[in-house]
Amino acid sequence: MKNYTWLVAVMCAPVLFACSEQTSEINAESSAVQIDATNTEVTDASSRIASGVDYHSFSNPSDIKVTHLSLNLSADFDSKQLKGDVTLDFTRSKPTNNTLVLDTRGLDIASVSVDGANVPFRLGERDIDLGTPLHITLPEAANQVTVAYSTSPEASGVQWLTPAQTAGKQHPFLFTQAQAVHARSFIPLQDSPQVRVTYDATIKTPPSLLAVMSASNDPNTPRDGEYSFTMPQPIPSYLIALAIGDLQFKAMGARTGVYAEPALLESAAKEFEDTEAMLEVTEKTYGPYQWDRYDLLILPPSFPFGGMENPRLSFITPTVIAGDKSLVSLIAHELAHSWSGNTVTNATWRDLWLNEGFTTYLTYRIMEMVYGNDRFKKEAVLGYQDLQNDVAALEDNDEILAIDLRGRNPDDVFSNIPYEKGALFLRELEHRIGRDNFDAFLMQYFKDFAFKSITTDTFIAYLDKTLLAQYPNKLDRMRIQAWIFQSGIPKDAPVPESNAFDIIDNTRAAWLRGDVMAKDIDTQAWTVHEWLYFLNNLPVALSDVQLAALDNAFALTASKNNEIAHSWLMIAVQNEYKPAYERLYSYLVSIGRNKLVKPLYRELSKTKEGKAFAKKAFDEAKPSYHPLTVRANEGFVN
Ligand code: BES
Ligand code: ZN
Repeated sequence: MKNYTWLVAVMCAPVLFACSEQTSEINAESSAVQIDATNTEVTDASSRIASGVDYHSFSNPSDIKVTHLSLNLSADFDSKQLKGDVTLDFTRSKPTNNTLVLDTRGLDIASVSVDGANVPFRLGERDIDLGTPLHITLPEAANQVTVAYSTSPEASGVQWLTPAQTAGKQHPFLFTQAQAVHARSFIPLQDSPQVRVTYDATIKTPPSLLAVMSASNDPNTPRDGEYSFTMPQPIPSYLIALAIGDLQFKAMGARTGVYAEPALLESAAKEFEDTEAMLEVTEKTYGPYQWDRYDLLILPPSFPFGGMENPRLSFITPTVIAGDKSLVSLIAHELAHSWSGNTVTNATWRDLWLNEGFTTYLTYRIMEMVYGNDRFKKEAVLGYQDLQNDVAALEDNDEILAIDLRGRNPDDVFSNIPYEKGALFLRELEHRIGRDNFDAFLMQYFKDFAFKSITTDTFIAYLDKTLLAQYPNKLDRMRIQAWIFQSGIPKDAPVPESNAFDIIDNTRAAWLRGDVMAKDIDTQAWTVHEWLYFLNNLPVALSDVQLAALDNAFALTASKNNEIAHSWLMIAVQNEYKPAYERLYSYLVSIGRNKLVKPLYRELSKTKEGKAFAKKAFDEAKPSYHPLTVRANEGFVN
């Protein structure tokens, strides 16, 4: 094993936000390739962005780097606060560096101490998106500091739910969601994905509840209101996660299981029973799973995402428990992050596509290995259509994989680009060099950069040394630059084969021409994928008669599949199809997953009447919505 350090060129040029790094040292260990320090001149369409600089953290890891956290928190459900302290271990790049800067957001800092003695600290100016830097003056030779604090009841990364907002209605619930920049709202820390820490934690809860974390969870731990955790692998802060509730555990396989409220436990374990098989095929193709167990946690419906890849314990929306495993690609996705994201991590939010694009590519491959080529082809077409829709709708700059996020809140820039465009880029590489060769490349990539945080430029330099050198006649550097630094989809990019849906296209066309009545269409064999493809490709304008014919034949308004319901409700709003509005209302007030509700709010907000309807639903739902969902949608109703 060879050890080397790659110095990324950094200037803290006129930046809009913070600039966390003076020089960013991205350490890579590799057996296969060597990257030398002269190879840092990776050009970039917008050369003023300093590669490796985290514009979304105030912290200064190049001066002092935190390496371990020891958390000690109690959850107070009455005041909606986490209270306690965190002890941070750190190393200094120079012994004279004595100011540690941490990120905070809405935290009440009670004291900062070293070995029990208070040390000076000061909170800097608050930034609306990034929070408030905490400057700590350290005594000489100290390598540990303790911050006593409590969180705000409005912490952006914590949602406190009342019993009424849970499935069981008896007990309260709490969950955190740290990605991208919300860990700082519940722990003062260096909230940058290029800082990796190990952690341990003691969490106190009301005795009837169970706490789980993105760490070692013991399914047999006594339920006594005090729980201990360790995370021995170094992880970035956005993967620190906690949930507390009336949770029970059910094993699904040797290394996999599910935590859920009792009412959902059986259905979740059944729905996701293939998780162990997913884990096995992924290991076989991309190398060993590095995180010991892989469990799922089913959250209440207000969880703002589909899933979140918290290590060892992915957090999952209950909206994918469809009864027929039709939406389990989400599990494959969160599992895949154990390789792309949790093992090899994006160094800054600009590099998010390294997490999400690789993960989306892996997801398709896992789905193909577990469920076959037919399912893969259908999901690839649907994903490609999502990408095309975004490319049509987004501004040019937002279609770039290595996106410029300076001055922007990463929460506001969520799209299919890092996901589907990133995956398509990797699929092109696969097609050009062959599947086996590309699999071998990825396996080596996960090994070479294991437990490292890397930039887009590091990845390009790695491609230079590996695939571009090995396959000079098949790959082309300019083409790779175009994928990463230009808008849109490059000409001649791979297009998923769509013959899987030819029958659906023909059926839809026949129905639109009036050649066949809705009730005579044979949909027996249609899965969710056929339905989504059928609905998503209808013309925007449809008559009430047409919509009623579809609804009467297929009970779409009553669909229990949340994705089908979403597509149908979008059509209903676009055409003001009123028979679906009662369902629309209950959908909006019972689901907080932003991807499902935001397009509906956006569409409703286009008419005066629609906006009034949206406002009514939003106002009712708001107490149950997560802060992220509130923020993403309040603009549509006000
Ligand atoms: N890590 C993401 C969620 C995320 C991304 C949170 C960026 C904050 C900032 C997670 O893995 C994800 O991609 N979830 C998707 C799943 C889908 C693509 C299968 C979601 O929630 O919709
Ligand atoms: Zn993801």
